[in-house]
Amino acid sequence: MQRVLSGIQPSGQLTLGNYIGAMQNFVRLQDTYQCFFMIVDLHAITVPQEPEALREQTEAVASLFIAAGIDPAKAAVFVQSHVRSHVELSWLMTTMTYMGELERMTQFKDKSAGKDSIGAGLFAYPALMAADILIYNADLVPVGDDQKQHLELTRDLAGRFNSRFGDYFTTPEPYIPKVGARIMSLDDASKKMSKSNPNPGSYIALLDPPDVIRKKLSRAVTDSGREVKFNPAEKPEISNLMSIYSHCSGLSLEEIEARYEGQGYGGFKKDLAEQVVSVLEPLQARYNEIRQSGEIHRILADGADRASAIADKTVRDVKEKMGFLLPK
Ligand code: TYM
Repeated sequence: MQRVLSGIQPSGQLTLGNYIGAMQNFVRLQDTYQCFFMIVDLHAITVPQEPEALREQTEAVASLFIAAGIDPAKAAVFVQSHVRSHVELSWLMTTMTYMGELERMTQFKDKSAGKDSIGAGLFAYPALMAADILIYNADLVPVGDDQKQHLELTRDLAGRFNSRFGDYFTTPEPYIPKVGARIMSLDDASKKMSKSNPNPGSYIALLDPPDVIRKKLSRAVTDSGREVKFNPAEKPEISNLMSIYSHCSGLSLEEIEARYEGQGYGGFKKDLAEQVVSVLEPLQARYNEIRQSGEIHRILADGADRASAIADKTVRDVKEKMGFLLPK
């Protein structure tokens, strides 16, 4: 069975962008692939985190995975730091990664711009992400558009390792949604919707109450004009809202255009809010049940056991190929 691996950082609130760009595909892929979905706490600490907030967010994101429809009987759901081999392979991968490759990463350039003290972990981050993927020999990696460059580096590292030490790693393919790979900010469609934006009106958090969702969407910026037409170059704001509508309703972009032909933006935005609420309200109810039950800890322990069995073996194999003396 082919394998799928992906991860989400437990920093701040998860947004509708994370859901549409990544989580929805996690749920879709779990029936046909052997899946590994993790909460990447080791990535989150590449920027400063409050200890209590990190712990709370890690549990919250794990619970959101289950609330979004990931079935722990099918997919291994776990916390990255619970599977220690990730760190070990990460170091091995770091030694094979060139400074120039890391310097070219746009996410590093964005996150370090204007800062005086930049942690070395933020710089080395893509080598840890490559280790995350290669450690399971994943075939497919469901992510949003912003992770494409990290995936390219992972593919290069797999090739580099294989040509130096003999074929071992699978070259992973990105799995990116056709529509919604980059959900944009509600206040500015030139920026990605992000949990780190200081203006909460710019994103829908998965745990925003229905009335907050309605308010945020009614205030979402729209292009001048009044036609509900998908044209990201000329109508970026309305096209972004249409992508969200399409994912939440299951309707195609053409069906949405036909439904609102000649009607202006008002009705479209009201209906959009109801579509988003209809997806997030049941998700929030499931989330609250999971948090109250405390069952997430059992799910994470089981997920870490299943993941470790594979990850530990990969590290052993890789060390052997690289010439480490293994303990007898
Ligand atoms: P992170 O935590 O920033 O985001 C998690 C996932 O959500 C997607 N995403 C979006 N998709 C569409 N529109 C948006 N506005 C939007 N915002 C976020 C991201 O593309 C991502 O798929 N480095 C990764 C985490 C990671 C990982 C991995 C992913 C660590 N190891 C191994 C895959 C495989 C990150 O920071 O994602």
